[in-house]
Amino acid sequence: MQDHGRTHCPNIRITFLRTCLSYIAMAIVFSICPGMHAAPPDFQSATSQASVKYDKSFRTFRLDGGNVSYVFGINERGELQTVYWGRRLLADDVLPPVHALPGHPFGMTTTPQEYSGWGGGLYTEPALKVTFADGNRDLVLHYVSYSIDKNSLAVVLRDIRRDLFVTLHYTVDQQTGIIGRSALIENRTTSPVTIEQAAAASWNLPHGNSYSLRYLAGRWGGETTLESRAIQPGSTVLESRRGVTGHQNNPWFAIAQDSSVAEESGNVWFGALAWSGDWRITVEQDIMQRVHVTGGFNPFDFAFPLAPGARLETPVFYGGFSSEGFGSASRLLHIFELTEILPHAPNPPLRKVLYNSWEATDMNVNEANQEALAEKAASIGVERFVMDDGWFGQRGIKPRAGLGDWYVNPEKFPHGLKPLIDKVHSLGMDFGLWVEPEMVNLKSDLYLTHPDWVISFPDRPRTLARDQLVLNLARPEVRDYVFGVVDKLLSENDISFIKWDYNRNWSEPGWPEQALDAQKTIYVQYIHNYYSILDELRRKHPNVEFETCSGGGGRVDLGVLHRVDQTWTSDNTDPFDRLTIQDGFSHAYTPGVMMAWVTDSPNWYNGRSTSLSYRFLSAMQGSLGIGNNLNKWSLEDFATAKSMIATYKTIRSIVQRGSLYRLISPQNGSNFSATEYANRDQDAAVFFFFMHSEQERYPAPRLYLRGLNPSEKYKLRAISGKASSDTPEIASGAYWMGHGLDLILHGDYDAASFELERQR
Ligand code: DGJ
Repeated sequence: MQDHGRTHCPNIRITFLRTCLSYIAMAIVFSICPGMHAAPPDFQSATSQASVKYDKSFRTFRLDGGNVSYVFGINERGELQTVYWGRRLLADDVLPPVHALPGHPFGMTTTPQEYSGWGGGLYTEPALKVTFADGNRDLVLHYVSYSIDKNSLAVVLRDIRRDLFVTLHYTVDQQTGIIGRSALIENRTTSPVTIEQAAAASWNLPHGNSYSLRYLAGRWGGETTLESRAIQPGSTVLESRRGVTGHQNNPWFAIAQDSSVAEESGNVWFGALAWSGDWRITVEQDIMQRVHVTGGFNPFDFAFPLAPGARLETPVFYGGFSSEGFGSASRLLHIFELTEILPHAPNPPLRKVLYNSWEATDMNVNEANQEALAEKAASIGVERFVMDDGWFGQRGIKPRAGLGDWYVNPEKFPHGLKPLIDKVHSLGMDFGLWVEPEMVNLKSDLYLTHPDWVISFPDRPRTLARDQLVLNLARPEVRDYVFGVVDKLLSENDISFIKWDYNRNWSEPGWPEQALDAQKTIYVQYIHNYYSILDELRRKHPNVEFETCSGGGGRVDLGVLHRVDQTWTSDNTDPFDRLTIQDGFSHAYTPGVMMAWVTDSPNWYNGRSTSLSYRFLSAMQGSLGIGNNLNKWSLEDFATAKSMIATYKTIRSIVQRGSLYRLISPQNGSNFSATEYANRDQDAAVFFFFMHSEQERYPAPRLYLRGLNPSEKYKLRAISGKASSDTPEIASGAYWMGHGLDLILHGDYDAASFELERQR
């Protein structure tokens, strides 16, 4: 300890002096260039380099990116031990070598490990648990070697006795400091090994007992509900056991350091798992009040045999840090998704304004009714016409029939899809189609021919949900069939967009054709094949865009987002309910992929009536779609829609690519809700304000904008609604952010929206 003191104190002094000098230098730069200090704090270090380094003398690895540093080291036992994860340190900050923490009576190890095997008396959540062929289940992973390639690091671990190797992969994003972690598990022994639990990573937070956890929960029609709870001794398990990402929990978390953390201030650690199958994230506080977050494949009902020489790669678990609150944490994730995750990253195209037929015609689609809707959709400025469910097989004609038979229904479309597609094109729109190719109805040619293709156990009931069963995509022939169905549709028709639906969770998850010890690999192989289909379709049809959908928002995660262009957020299209669903969604995912439709009033889901402009403003906070029965619209509705869509097209780059500020949260029954989107170069912003119900004519709360340049002037323009009469037309960013403005809202379900444009 004294040794440390001697070497460390001078460093602290030098570091302190350097820090002071750099702050003075920064202050001088900012006073010369006043615009600079106004840059949104999340991206102040956007130009700072990312780096990955190994310190030989202290045996520590250090990853830097954005405003974040992440450090871990090799302790004297050979374990990888977390040292630091937080605000970016200076390049010459010295972090001493790591030492394993002392055990504790009845707790043999309390060392926060980067990736722990279950063995050696570990009582916290292991990252990896295996059974060797001889029944040995003890696994202790120690450091072997490392390699660095630009912004990525690979660290190899090996069991202390056996040739079970794990390579930990780390990447660090230059702009956001988000770290990607995954593990490659390799059996180099001469006998089979069964993996029973495999996480992508464990994230260890600094010691503390005032943390709280935010996570997303929900159900069909009520997705991405933001939940919060104190982190206390014990574990919170977020998971899916449904075969798919699921509505019930979404694989995202955010942890606040203490109760002072707010939307725009305080230390927040966050993470998201890139996996669309069964997953689990365990957040635990150990006996020494340390918090660990371990996530990857869900170990429930999991067994993955590795023959000698075989490997298993885990999904990637992304983790980030912000010292600027939950808002900044989401903005970091949003920019990361746009620039690193989405298929066309770093410049994914803006979402087209689409029309979708589902709420208008249900499964009763036909050439005439779709063409009539298409004409009306085109007249209001829609850019993409999507025909939803009902166009194939006997779907919607015979009960419980159709799924699996992907031929165009000849009664509904006597000349195939071509006339409708041509019509849509002639109206200046592109054409999209709904499919649900992983599913089968009992009354289908496919099921009659291949009843064995569904996920099931022999001689057990096949539980139906929405009258359908899930095809076992883990089987190569089923994978090829599903690929073939969509490939054929795309090859034979001029289709620009596929809405890929998935309306059922798994039950009886059997794969009887597989060897007994490999049957549970279905959880992994299914998703690998699902991803491989999307990847191959994208390669073969590079101009086609995809939407992920699962009874609304049941399949949204960073794994599928790497392969699709947008997401269906929820079947609940009520514009008021959507405020909370969209708010929750925005904690983890960019509004640039969040489809939000304007639909009919009263809303089909809850019977609530709202004005057309309120519905538009709610949906314009994401990527806009129209789902109304346009046959019921008045001339006035068409005029409103046309003007709103035209406006949306002028602001969509701000909404879909800008920085989101959640000004007033709709959560916890709030009477108000407000969001603001600011262009990253601070030349424009747009904001939306919603009131549930006016009470005793109290004024709505004042809005204080964010993300503007205080020294520039911005002109206010109404999209919909009124500001108080004393609101200036042009004022500085300092005014809009410091003084704020009052909007006039009245009655029930009222809303307003304005934009700000920088003046030159
Ligand atoms: C569920 C989706 O979420 C809806 O938008 C719609 O496509 C239906 N499936 C069609 O069956």
